[in-house]
Amino acid sequence: MPDSLLRLDQLLSRFGFCSRSEARHWLRAGRVTVDGQSVADPSRRVAVATVRVDGAPVEFPGGILALFHKPAAVVCSHDEGEGRRVYDLLPERWSRRNPPVQSVGRLDKDATGLLVLTDIGDWIHRWTSPRHHVPKLYEVTVDADLDPACVERFASGTLRLDGESAPCLPARLEILSAREARIEITEGRYHQVKRMFASQGAHVVRLHRTRFGPFELGALAEGEWCPGFFP
Ligand code: URA
Repeated sequence: MPDSLLRLDQLLSRFGFCSRSEARHWLRAGRVTVDGQSVADPSRRVAVATVRVDGAPVEFPGGILALFHKPAAVVCSHDEGEGRRVYDLLPERWSRRNPPVQSVGRLDKDATGLLVLTDIGDWIHRWTSPRHHVPKLYEVTVDADLDPACVERFASGTLRLDGESAPCLPARLEILSAREARIEITEGRYHQVKRMFASQGAHVVRLHRTRFGPFELGALAEGEWCPGFFP
C-alpha cells in the first residue's frame, strides 16, 4: 500500500476536521466523498486528492507552508496563558491538524513582520537549525543615534552578547537614518537583534522582519496569511 493512502478516519483527524472517533459520524452523515461517491467506511484507504469534505477538497494536502504578517501584541507560543496567539488569527482548523502548524522560529510579542508557518517537521528543522545559517532581514528603530562604527562591529564576527561566550556570526548592518537601520543576521539567538543593539547602547523600539530565508513579506497586510511558495 503506498504511503500516500490514508484511512479515512486518519485523514479527517490529520487534516483537522474531527477526531478519529468522530469520523464515523461525519462519514455516516455523508459529508465525505471519494471520487464523487459518499463513503461510510472509516477504514477505507484513500488518496487525499480524491477526497472532498462538505464538497471541498482537502486544504494543503502535502502539508502547510504559509507566510503570515504578524501584528504586534500577539505571541508565537501555542500556550493559551501568554495572551493572544498568532494561532488565534489563523484558520481554526489549522490548530487541529496533526502534526500542528508551528511558526519557524519566533518573533517577540512586540515584533512585527514575516513569520513562516508550517506543519512539515523537516522544514522546521531545516530552517531553525543553527547549521543552516538562514538569513533573516529586520528593520529596526532605536532610541539613540547609531554610531556608524556599529556596521564594522556587527560585521566583525567578534561581537559578544551579555552572558554568552561565543561571538555572534557576522551580521550585515545598513544604517538608514540616525535611529533607523536594516540588519541581516544568520542565527536565531534569544532576542538576538535587541541584544546586539543593546550592546551598543541602543534600545530597540521597533522591530519588523521583512525576509526569512527565501521568503519575503512583500505587500502582505498585517494579520493576513498567504500560501508560501519557493521562489
Ligand atoms: N531578534 C529579537 O530581538 N527579537 C525577535 O523577535 C527576533 C530577532
